[in-house]
Amino acid sequence: MFNFLSRATSSVKGHETNSGKIIALMNQKGGVGKTTMAFNLAHAFAHQGKKVLCLDMDPQGNFSSLFGVEASDENQHIHHLLINSIKELKPLHTNIMPHDVIKSFETSPGVSIDLLPSGQELSGFELTVAGINSPRQLILKKFIEKYDLRSQYDVIVIDGPPTLGLLVVNILCACDGVLYPFVPDRFSEQGLKNILQVVEDIDEMGITTTPKNLGYIPNLFDTRRKQANDDLGMIRQTLGEATVFEPFTNKVQFGKSLASRKSVFDYKSAEFKDLQSQFNKMVDTVSEELHS
Ligand SMILES: Nc1ncnc2c1ncn2[C@@H]1O[C@H](COP(=O)(O)OP(=O)(O)OP(=O)(O)O)[C@@H](O)[C@H]1O
Ligand SMILES: [Mg+2]
Repeated sequence: MFNFLSRATSSVKGHETNSGKIIALMNQKGGVGKTTMAFNLAHAFAHQGKKVLCLDMDPQGNFSSLFGVEASDENQHIHHLLINSIKELKPLHTNIMPHDVIKSFETSPGVSIDLLPSGQELSGFELTVAGINSPRQLILKKFIEKYDLRSQYDVIVIDGPPTLGLLVVNILCACDGVLYPFVPDRFSEQGLKNILQVVEDIDEMGITTTPKNLGYIPNLFDTRRKQANDDLGMIRQTLGEATVFEPFTNKVQFGKSLASRKSVFDYKSAEFKDLQSQFNKMVDTVSEELHS
């Protein structure tokens, strides 16, 4: 279906020998909560004592902005590191290493999270690597292996872009498991189907270990609307065996916390407790699934 999938020239081993796990939040549809979920999930892991790297793979850079890192011409980011990791693109290499780019944030006392930011140049990734002979689908995977990022973190949380293309394929080939946030209405179902099709295509290609389906996250669920319940019921039926997490309703707490670049874990007041426990439960389910 996607012609960039048919260009793999060699088979690469799976993720079996490493310690850290890589989770990606994916959906082709925009505005379904990928970044919101990635940010809060990363904080949930960190609050449970895990060493976490947030990897922004969306050229929009929203994940990075939540840490106060804005895309700008001076900032080096994941795009430059990925290009540096491709031998054939030597003329484009810059003199930077992951430790120059990864930033550490103490989000609350004793809790820190690392960020590998993104920026606008990442939108040109597909074009930049178009002519190389090495497998273009595995650039991110090989980059992570080259710098042994798994051994430095317990969890790497990737925020994906609302597109289908080589970036998305690279994320899916590099991660151990995928979480799919979606808005349970009939219109957004297609975005979910499209991304699932890419996973299926990767599986058929056999170029790497297919990422696990860690579950679907119904978001912005309108409990007052009967139609919403019907839609969710219908969508559940089409999702098969995978976990469907407890839906997130429209929560002012998300708007309030994200506007201050905070997670729901950075608040002690009672109004944030339910969301904290919802994310903690998600962490437990995801951890169990990844280690099974
Ligand atoms: N459950 C929720 N309640 C209230 N607001 C929410 C909820 N989930 C997400 N939002 C808000 O909706 C907007 C879109 O969310 P978000 O940026 O996480 O989506 P996305 O899937 O990452 O979008 P994109 O595809 O553009 O990257 C944000 O302003 C976010 O704060
Ligand atoms: Mg986003």
